[in-house]
Amino acid sequence: MSLPSHVRLVEVGPRDGLQNEAQPISVADKVKLVDALTAAGLGYIEVGSFVSPKWVPQMAGSADVFAQIQRKAGVKYGALTPNLRGFEDAMTAGVKEIAVFAAASEAFSQRNINCSIGESLERFAPIMAAAKQHGVTVRGYVSCVLGCPYEGAVAPEQVAAVARELYAMGCYEVSLGDTIGTGTAGATRRLFEVVGKDVPRDKLAGHFHDTYGQAIANIYASLLEGIQVFDSSIAGLGGCPYAKGASGNVATEDVLYLLNGLGIETGVELERLILAGQQISAVLGRPTGSRVAKARNAERVTPV
Ligand code: HMG
Ligand code: MG
Repeated sequence: MSLPSHVRLVEVGPRDGLQNEAQPISVADKVKLVDALTAAGLGYIEVGSFVSPKWVPQMAGSADVFAQIQRKAGVKYGALTPNLRGFEDAMTAGVKEIAVFAAASEAFSQRNINCSIGESLERFAPIMAAAKQHGVTVRGYVSCVLGCPYEGAVAPEQVAAVARELYAMGCYEVSLGDTIGTGTAGATRRLFEVVGKDVPRDKLAGHFHDTYGQAIANIYASLLEGIQVFDSSIAGLGGCPYAKGASGNVATEDVLYLLNGLGIETGVELERLILAGQQISAVLGRPTGSRVAKARNAERVTPV
């Protein structure tokens, strides 16, 4: 299959990245990050989540962040909503695009959202109905698609069963997440071959973590399978509170560098993206997780 001419990037850093940070991050810093990502040209930014603050305290201020960001026309600003209560809070905050999330493994589903996969899908039904009423679009996530921290291997057929349900319920796109980052290019290709039989490939997205250093290779493998939407996180922020040892999501800067090199259009500007990553890394007080940003920063201070 030939490579696509255009790819859509879904920036998950302010949510999937920051949710994992133990240190408090102010609403002002989160707003600054989202605004910098908008300025870099991203078309979809996941701003926060309306979940239990007992489990994910960092996302507690999501409504305030939504109230203060500068929205640019044509850009989607999304939020995770695990249940009807989260959905209602999101509506009060003026959210127009939501995401529901299920797991491909039973053990992860229990740890992450405190219920079985079947129960989680049942929980989403009223959200889907309410979203339709409000004219809100819904994205679906499946996590642990290439391995589970509790169960080990996960069969692609298991992933296909959950993705099919989310798509049938009305999710316009289903993002397949390698939450623990153990996937390889071969496993990624097999995954999309199997899931692609149940959900059209142009309705699937890839969400890779870089724990084993395979995320960029897995994105390239996904491109070869006809996938054109990828989730990534500025400065490689992230991990997963329910998957010990999982490193960050693949860095947006690194994905963009790959795509630029392939001549694939995204509408995103690398230099502005690197700036956004520098800003949030300074707030967190640690070096960026992006290899590209590290290399660019080193070039700036070290004459060659
Ligand atoms: P529950 O069924 O109510 O059960 O919520 P619970 O015991 O987990 O809930 C505890 C408390 O949260 C209760 O309050 C609820 O009322 C309250 P208490 O009685 O203890 O005072 N609560 C809420 N509060 C605010 N907003 C809400 C809400 N719902 C309940 N919406 C639930 C189940 C799933 C909602 C809860 O367990 C939860 O929010 N968990 C956090 C899940 C989460 O955010 N996980 C991380 C995101 S998923 C992910 O990272 C993977 C992904 O990024 C893909 C990838 O990386 O591969 C998508
Ligand atoms: Mg993730």
